[in-house]
Formats: sequence, structure tokens, C-alpha cells
Amino acid sequence: MRWRNIIFKWRPLLLIVAVIYTILIIPSWFSSSLDETKDEPRLAQGVNPKLKLGRKSSNNSKLTIDHSAELMKIKPETEAPKKLINVKPDLKPSAQLETNNEQPEMVVASEKFVFKLNYRGQSLAIEEVLTHPDMPKLKERVTFSPDLAKSNRTKILIWDSGFGQQNLGGCPEWNCEVISGAGNLASADVVVIQSPSFTIKKEPHQLFVYYSQESPRNSASLGQGPPGYFNTMFGFRHDTVGGSPYGYTVKLAPESRRTGEIVDKKLVMGKSKGATWFVSHCSTQSHREEYVRELQKYFQVDIYGQCGTMRCAKGDNCENSVDKDYHFYMALENSICQDYITEKLWNQGYSHTVVPIVLKRSLVEAYVPPKSFIAFDDFETVQEMADYLKHLMENKTEYMSYFDWRKDYEVIYLNGLAHDELEKPWGFCQLCRLSHLKDSATKYTIQNLSKFWDQSCDPDGKLVSEILAKSRAKGNSPTQVVNNSTQVKN
Ligand SMILES: *[C@@H]1O[C@H](CO)[C@@H](O)[C@H](O)[C@H]1NC(C)=O
Ligand SMILES: *[C@@H]1O[C@H](CO)[C@@H](O)[C@H](O)[C@H]1NC(C)=O
Ligand SMILES: *[C@@H]1O[C@H](CO)[C@@H](O)[C@H](O)[C@H]1NC(C)=O
Ligand SMILES: *[C@@H]1O[C@H](CO)[C@@H](O)[C@H](O)[C@H]1NC(C)=O
Ligand SMILES: *[C@@H]1O[C@H](CO)[C@@H](O)[C@H](O)[C@H]1NC(C)=O
Ligand SMILES: *[C@@H]1O[C@H](CO)[C@@H](O)[C@H](O)[C@H]1NC(C)=O
Repeated sequence: MRWRNIIFKWRPLLLIVAVIYTILIIPSWFSSSLDETKDEPRLAQGVNPKLKLGRKSSNNSKLTIDHSAELMKIKPETEAPKKLINVKPDLKPSAQLETNNEQPEMVVASEKFVFKLNYRGQSLAIEEVLTHPDMPKLKERVTFSPDLAKSNRTKILIWDSGFGQQNLGGCPEWNCEVISGAGNLASADVVVIQSPSFTIKKEPHQLFVYYSQESPRNSASLGQGPPGYFNTMFGFRHDTVGGSPYGYTVKLAPESRRTGEIVDKKLVMGKSKGATWFVSHCSTQSHREEYVRELQKYFQVDIYGQCGTMRCAKGDNCENSVDKDYHFYMALENSICQDYITEKLWNQGYSHTVVPIVLKRSLVEAYVPPKSFIAFDDFETVQEMADYLKHLMENKTEYMSYFDWRKDYEVIYLNGLAHDELEKPWGFCQLCRLSHLKDSATKYTIQNLSKFWDQSCDPDGKLVSEILAKSRAKGNSPTQVVNNSTQVKN
């Protein structure tokens, strides 16, 4: 009876509490169920529907664990770091998601443009690609203009390389055709040339495109070319409208951003070795090998391949050891040229749970996620770099901060084999898009080919020899730097 009395006595207060509770809780039930349905298309990529049950829980960390466990079961080939990625529930439902059904990969939100793509089993909403500031933004790159369909089919002539219709796989609806044969020159809207002799007669409306995936230090000079002969380049350069880099960074739209454990902590804690380098070209214009040889005096760098002592036996999963054992990966190019970033960084570097090391910060910084790499020229001397790398190995919290970018960015590697929507913002799709626009040939030209190409590289060995000279001057090391790289057999 005492309980009855208490309840009776406090009845008004209990009533108020109940009302407040109702007001606060009911709407949150609604919003959380909205989030569930909203998330469904994103989770639909082979993830068990059971997951949705887990979402009823308000314990987010539990949700993360469930989610990753499911991903692991269903997609065992997904890479280690991605298994642990938690898809953040969309807190700002945008009704626009459902309105644009004809073009599923494109979503025009009220102000923010969003493009959807699939990468390594994940469906991602992205809002921008990181590229040169003077180049078209993502929206312009991937927006389908109905005029492109109505206008006549345009023709891309391949002059002297092996591209075909499949290279337009990222934009089949854009009404372009890949052709070949010098006899078809007059009918071509775009001409792709690999070995330029500058004798092909160009019509004013035609776009001439220079194709090279090699650095200028390892391909022919364009210095003989008349001003404006090429309109754009098909290759790694970001500062040209037809660019087709080896990989690129995307900024994730809010609905695809990640929270929770974005790096496999257990994997990181288990790492014990310094840096690794997979290399078979032992003497290069960048003199990267001289720097590494010096670094090895202070810091572990295991070199696999012809230029080092480590061997990768058949059947060994040496790539696996990059994730398991090493903290750093040497993503060093053979030459230091504008925008020359290859699969060494885009694939080997960023697709593993490892911090890539590059030659020169200014060369990559604009195109890769923030705080995602370390550069030789971040340090005055080789010893300072060694000390910093050791410091990161000792403080795993700080080391792991080099993966924070995974919350807001994704790095996409273009392997050149699959031609799908990942290629849409680049290369052939951009050439196709431009071929339909009236003013492309005047809007986009490369006026000074020598400046654009031949003079876009650092002098051979400049950066490395400068750092090595400073390292010697500081005199931390009694050992002399060996300068015999030119004698090392290729
Ligand atoms: C969430 O669940 C985990 C394990 O299931 C537990 O350790 C943690 O304390 C919970 N957190 C909250 C906020 O309830
Ligand atoms: C399409 O091609 C036809 C025949 O060559 C030509 O008459 C017509 O003007 C072209 N249309 C456009 C929009 O260029
Ligand atoms: C490790 O680094 C973190 C972040 O920089 C810092 O807060 C922490 O104090 C460091 N721990 C040690 C043991 O130095
Ligand atoms: C091209 O640019 C270089 C400077 O990088 C300059 O020396 C050269 O004169 C320019 N050539 C033409 C044709 O303007
Ligand atoms: C290596 O030798 C070349 C010529 O023999 C010289 O120009 C260069 O400065 C040397 N580099 C270093 C780092 O000493
Ligand atoms: C050149 O470098 C290699 C590898 O570091 C070394 O073994 C060799 O003794 C050097 N040769 C000379 C002539 O210094």
C-alpha cells in the first residue's frame, strides 16, 4: 500500500515526465526508421538484410561490429582496412535521392552535387574529385547533356595506339564512336596520337590529343610541335582536360562518410617492420635509389625485387606482408615530373594499410587525401626522416592518424582494364564529352608544348642530391654517401 501512496502522491509529476518522454522519444523512432530505409540502397551491395535488425539498437559501436562481421562473411575478398569501415547512417535524409530514377548514378541534391559509383564492392556517393583547380569540376565532367544524344555521333580516331570502343565503357550513352585508319581523318572529331610527327593536317574543329602514360623523361620530346597543335593530353596529367590519371581521390558525400574504427587496429599493432620497397629499376633519373641507400643506414627498408636482397618466392604472398608487417611503403617514381604519379602510389601505396612515402610533397599534395603520406622533402636530412619514421612506429596512435582521411575520402585506382563509371570523369569519356561541345577546340589548347611537356620535370637527381648534401653537412653520420648510382646495373 505504501507504493500506491507514493504513486498517488507523485502522480502529477509522473504524468509530466511521461508526456516529456513521449514528446522526445516518438519523433526519434520515426527518424531512425527513415534512416534505415534511406540506407538500404547503399547497404544493398550484397550485405545481409539481417543487418537492418541491428540498426534498431542505439549502441553504435555494436552496430559497427555487426556490420563488419557481415561484410567479412559475405565479401571475403574485400581488403582488410575496408572490412572495418562503418557506414555512417545518413543523418540528413534528402528526398531527392529517389526522384531521379532515370539516371541512377546521378543525384542532384538541392545544392550539393553527388555522383554515385561502385568501387571494390562499396557503393559510394561522392561530391568531388581532387584535381587541378583550373579543370572542370566533377559535376561538369559527369553531367549528361541531352544535346550529346541529339547531336550527331562523334568520332574519336586512334592514330597509332590500341584503344577501342571499350574505352568508352564509362559513358556508353554519350554517343561517341572509336575509329581507326588514317583514311578516316577527315571524319574525325578527335584524333589520339602517341608518336607525334606533327605532319598530320589538323582541321580547326578537331581536337588533337597527345597520349603518353610515361613521364616526359622517358618519352619523346614535344618541343618541335607548333603552338596549339595539341588540345589536350590523354595521360597522367591533371592540368589537361582529357587527363586520365592512374588513380584519383574522391571526397565522399556526407551519406558515404565513415565513422568508427577506420583502420584495423589489430593489424597495425601487429606491425613490427619499417619500410618496404618493391622495385626492379635500380638506376633512375630521380636518384631515389641513392636516398634509400642512405636511409637504410638509419632505418629498416626491405627491398624486394632485382634491386634488393629480399626475394618473393612463388606462392608467397609478399603483398600480404605489406599490410601485416610494414609501416611504410616506398612509392617512389623514376622521375620527378609534374603530376607523374603512378600505380606505385595509387595502388600499392593506398590500397594497403601502410603509409606511403613519396619523393616530393608538392607533386602529390593537391591530388591525394590530406595527411595520407610522407615525403622525402618534408625533412632537411635523411636522419631526420629516419627519426620521424621511428617515432611513428613507437607511437601507434600518431601512426594511425595517417589513416584518418579514410573517413571522408576514398582513393580510386584505375587499372586501365575495367572501363566503367570510375573512368567517367577522365580520359576517353572527357574526350567524348568535349567532342560534342562547339567551343572545345578553342577553349582547350596547349599553347607551349615544350613548356607543358619537355620542361615539366625536375633536373635529374636534384631533390635527392640536395637532401643528401645537407645530410652530409649536418655530419650526423660518419659514413660517406656512395655516389655510384650510374654504375649500378639496370
Ligand atoms: C555498446 O555495446 C558494447 C558491447 O556490446 C559495450 O561494451 C558498450 O559499453 C556499449 N555502449 C553503450 C554506450 O551502451
Ligand atoms: C548531322 O549530320 C548531317 C549529315 O552529315 C548534317 O546534315 C547535320 O547538319 C548534322 N547535325 C548536326 C547537329 O551537326
Ligand atoms: C602519441 O601521440 C599522441 C598523438 O599525437 C599523443 O597524444 C600521445 O601523448 C603520444 N603518446 C606518447 C606515449 O608519446
Ligand atoms: C615556351 O616556354 C618557354 C619557357 O618555359 C619559353 O622559353 C619558350 O620561348 C616558349 N616558347 C614559345 C614558342 O613561346
Ligand atoms: C654524383 O656524381 C655526379 C657526377 O659524378 C655529381 O654531379 C653529383 O653531384 C653527385 N651527387 C652527389 C649526391 O654527390
Ligand atoms: C657502389 O654501390 C654498391 C651498392 O651500394 C656497393 O656495393 C659498391 O661497393 C659501390 N661501388 C663503389 C665503386 O663505390
